[in-house]
Amino acid sequence: MNKIIEINVSESYKVYLGYENYKEILNYIDDKKKIFIITDENLKKLHLKEFTKILDDERINYSNFILKPGEDSKSLKSVERIMNSMAEQKMSRSDIVIAFGGGVVGDIAGFCASIYQRGIEYIQIPTTLLAAVDSSVGGKTAVNLESGKNLVGSFKQPLSVICNLDTFKTLSKEEFNNGVYECIKYGIIFDRDYFDIFLQEDFDVNSNRLMEVVESAITFKSKVVIEDEFDFGKRRLLNLGHTFGHGIEQASAYKIKHGFAVGLGMEIVSKISYSLNGISKEELDEILSVMKKYRNIKLPTISPQDILSYALVDKKIYGGVINMIIPKSIGECEIIEVELDKLKELYYLGTNNS
Ligand SMILES: NC(=O)c1ccc[n+]([C@@H]2O[C@H](COP(=O)([O-])OP(=O)(O)OC[C@H]3O[C@@H](n4cnc5c(N)ncnc54)[C@H](O)[C@@H]3O)[C@@H](O)[C@H]2O)c1
Repeated sequence: MNKIIEINVSESYKVYLGYENYKEILNYIDDKKKIFIITDENLKKLHLKEFTKILDDERINYSNFILKPGEDSKSLKSVERIMNSMAEQKMSRSDIVIAFGGGVVGDIAGFCASIYQRGIEYIQIPTTLLAAVDSSVGGKTAVNLESGKNLVGSFKQPLSVICNLDTFKTLSKEEFNNGVYECIKYGIIFDRDYFDIFLQEDFDVNSNRLMEVVESAITFKSKVVIEDEFDFGKRRLLNLGHTFGHGIEQASAYKIKHGFAVGLGMEIVSKISYSLNGISKEELDEILSVMKKYRNIKLPTISPQDILSYALVDKKIYGGVINMIIPKSIGECEIIEVELDKLKELYYLGTNNS
């Protein structure tokens, strides 16, 4: 029943996917290694004990660093606090960091592991759907600056990923659906049949397709990461919805979560595509309908100027042009270059029509 997915990048690693699988950690650690677990307050209350019991049983030496939940923790201030604590615990380069949490914990833990003593190993234990299907695989690590999201970071592949689907049971519907948008993203980029799961079903944590959905998502992601580990080509497709999505996320002061913001960004680029004679009206309507279906939140009002000003501080800008991902049809996207002074025009094209 449990699965192993191999990610064959420069340093290949395994993703363990299934239930009651925390014990897979013992493939990587022993009582000679020190373990530094980075997690957040919610995970400490809900799931950490079940994991640390395995370490206790094997008499493994570990310490915990508990972050406040939420995007504000993904900062250079937290990085400094974490690394001071790692130094106090006398963590050495042969020891291991564990990211036990959602994408926030995973991104900051990976970043700290990539720079502490010029790099030590880390293992991702994603506990949100979003982290399982996206952030825990692929080796992108980052923290935010006040001026923009994910502006400081590194590439550092994990030693392994252990995804225990049981943990999703305690996610709120909002947090679960936040991850569903990342899955829908893979459908729009790569696979019409995968998209149809979300269109046709009311996909939720109790779906008997949960394992299959997560496994396919990891496989979609791993294929492009294997082809383009450092994000110079095909991997950019994964940024579908991100130009405006990151703008929306930041302009809302992170009240709109990453997945929902990317969902809104995907809506905008789909409308742009339709206006430019790309995607058909039928497929646009299907995308808009699936986006609406999982949006069980009230959206705050945000000014387009704010969204655009954040969208312009984007890592995807090269030589005055931005690479934007546009759906051609459901299951196929292309990367187009947009001059920065055209971004505003496109944003209005993607928000004023339907
Ligand atoms: N590195 C990448 O490739 C990549 C890709 C996509 C997103 N990201 C990043 O991921 C972050 C978003 O990740 P996220 O959506 O997982 O957010 P998150 O890490 O903030 O987690 C969301 C909330 O859920 C709580 N939580 C986590 N697991 C839980 C569980 N099992 N039960 C109950 N509550 C739980 C957390 O405490 C938090 O309050 C963003 O910072 C985004 O930039 C990174």
